[in-house]
Amino acid sequence: MAQPSPLLAESLQAIARDVDSLFDALLPPPEAGLLAQAMRHAAIGGGKRLRPLLLTATAAMFGVDRTHALRAGVGIEAVHAYSLVHDDLPCMDDDDLRHGKPTVHKAFGEAMAVLVGDGLQAFAFEVLADPATSGDPFIRAELVGVLARAAGAGGMVGGQALDIAAEGAALDLGAISRLQQLKTGALLGAAVEMGAVMGKIAPEGRTQLRAYARDIGLAFQIADDLLDTQGDQAKAGKALRKDAEAGKATFVGLMGAERAREQAQMLVDQAIAHLGNHGQEADVLRALARYIVDRDH
Ligand code: IPE
Ligand code: IPE
Ligand code: MG
Ligand code: MG
Ligand code: MG
Repeated sequence: MAQPSPLLAESLQAIARDVDSLFDALLPPPEAGLLAQAMRHAAIGGGKRLRPLLLTATAAMFGVDRTHALRAGVGIEAVHAYSLVHDDLPCMDDDDLRHGKPTVHKAFGEAMAVLVGDGLQAFAFEVLADPATSGDPFIRAELVGVLARAAGAGGMVGGQALDIAAEGAALDLGAISRLQQLKTGALLGAAVEMGAVMGKIAPEGRTQLRAYARDIGLAFQIADDLLDTQGDQAKAGKALRKDAEAGKATFVGLMGAERAREQAQMLVDQAIAHLGNHGQEADVLRALARYIVDRDH
């Protein structure tokens, strides 16, 4: 699989460093107790940080201060981290390994893992509502609204419910697309949207960015499903070869790996075409779209 371009490699490194240090500064300190330690286990030191990168790269296109955008990036990443803690629970995907470490319920117990998810979700909105994220109360309110919609029943949580309900069921292409759009696409879309909100881009001006986000969202989940069937577990840092056994509804299961990869590649080309009106300032978003299907973890 291809390595990220030099521009993207640098951006990935910087976002991982900055998100880690901001989580470290903003989360309760380890001395606060077990819940704080477990929240830090879930949030710090792992993950590609793609959602904060999408958010900060979009915000940068419109001249938003990086310190502000990073805080919003930590907000959305907290929701993502919570979603993984709950996704790994025995009552969901029952996984023992995440980011190369034991999952939160393995390390801290199930009750604590439920609470870590709850705590990270509240933390996300606390960060967004803080004036340090944006001096403009209208922007703060819009950030909260966009993330809440993407996280809830009409977004990620709704998609997770469909994912569980679909285990063992035969879904068609339309139903799988809808499931994945909610489960994964909603938060990736929110990352781009929040960047545009911070850049004070009116909803009418966000059409192309939304189209970009929709295409990479679908491509992203196809790539995750391909990794499950073909990836290297040591690189992925999580258990693989699980979807088929669990009867998960995936594009790969429906159309086979080869056609699924072609489909993902087509979506990436389409996503990049949606950025046609933008110049060099959109290069990170272009590189990120390619990386989404080329990645090995
Ligand atoms: C994994 O997401 C879960 C899905 C939404 C498919 P990522 O691959 O973005 O997770 P990390 O945070 O980088 O491990
Ligand atoms: C998880 O999808 C999506 C969310 C957490 C919202 P998966 O169950 O496919 O993610 P992995 O493969 O465990 O990372
Ligand atoms: Mg799952
Ligand atoms: Mg899972
Ligand atoms: Mg998966």
